[in-house]
Amino acid sequence: IFDLYCNKKLLAENPLDNSDSDIGLCGWLLVLLSMLLTLVTLPVSIWMCIKIVKEYERAIIFRLGRILKGGAKGPGLFFILPCTDSLINVDMRTITFDIPPQEVLTKDSVTVNVDGVVYYRVQNATLAVANITNADAATRLLAQTTLRNVLGTKNLAEILSDREEIAHSMQSTLDDATDDWGIKVERVEIKDVKLPIQLQRAMAAEAEASREARAKVIAAEGEMNASRALKEASLVIAESPSALQLRYLQTLNTIAAEKNSTIIFPVPMDMMQAFMKH
Ligand SMILES: *[C@@H]1O[C@H](CO)[C@@H](O)[C@H](O)[C@H]1NC(C)=O
Ligand SMILES: *[C@@H]1O[C@H](CO)[C@@H](O)[C@H](O)[C@H]1NC(C)=O
Ligand SMILES: *[C@@H]1O[C@H](CO)[C@@H](O)[C@H](O)[C@H]1NC(C)=O
Ligand SMILES: *[C@@H]1O[C@H](CO)[C@@H](O)[C@H](O)[C@H]1NC(C)=O
Repeated sequence: IFDLYCNKKLLAENPLDNSDSDIGLCGWLLVLLSMLLTLVTLPVSIWMCIKIVKEYERAIIFRLGRILKGGAKGPGLFFILPCTDSLINVDMRTITFDIPPQEVLTKDSVTVNVDGVVYYRVQNATLAVANITNADAATRLLAQTTLRNVLGTKNLAEILSDREEIAHSMQSTLDDATDDWGIKVERVEIKDVKLPIQLQRAMAAEAEASREARAKVIAAEGEMNASRALKEASLVIAESPSALQLRYLQTLNTIAAEKNSTIIFPVPMDMMQAFMKH
């Protein structure tokens, strides 16, 4: 009769109703029995009833398969019933993991190797236990695919320059997706973008060529400025004949100071006049 009643009660239950009051009459009987058992064997059983949860943990208690009302318990000390209750501890601290290097094809058809770091924590322990088998593994896999998806829509230049923005859009995408699992993705960082060797070489050659071209332009400009200055100087000298004479003596002076073993025969400037006509 007891069995029949229990079965009827279970059949009548609404499977979607999630309150702990509907563990059924036989459920309550079992719970009472368990309490009685605990009281009878008190000094020994007390060790099985007391549970301690650390500051950063929460405990999800299942009584006869249903999550207890109020969701996650803790931190601190609380009692459970032996036999009818079981519990799962959930760590609420921030967890980090590396996204393994992903070979991604960018929008402009370049393969790059990208890796990163993800910081997340469990925000709602009930959802992290009840909604998904292994929240950690699920988040890892999702981070990998999200990295590929996000980078696939960017050009190489954008990947190299907009890391901040890419990390931010990855974080919001991941966070939206993990909401159902009670997980909050706090931060995503792109660690390294590795280019293929050939592309590295090509980019280095390009940079070198452009630097060389710039150097040539600067040298040519300097030459132009120098020749312009020289022309101005010659105009000034041509204005007065004695200026050339002075310049001539100055040159002799310089030579005498620098190479004092050289003997110079000065030629009067008037003799050069014949050549300077043209
Ligand atoms: C966790 O999620 C459950 C189900 O959505 C909700 O009832 C509960 O209030 C949430 N707990 C916290 C701490 O937000
Ligand atoms: C997760 O749990 C919440 C509340 O219990 C529910 O609304 C949601 O649909 C669940 N999501 C998944 C993916 O199971
Ligand atoms: C040449 O002269 C121009 C203007 O006089 C100046 O702006 C430029 O910097 C000079 N170039 C070099 C290489 O000195
Ligand atoms: C020639 O110059 C050198 C240094 O350049 C100096 O040591 C030497 O004494 C000079 N000779 C004369 C004769 O001035």
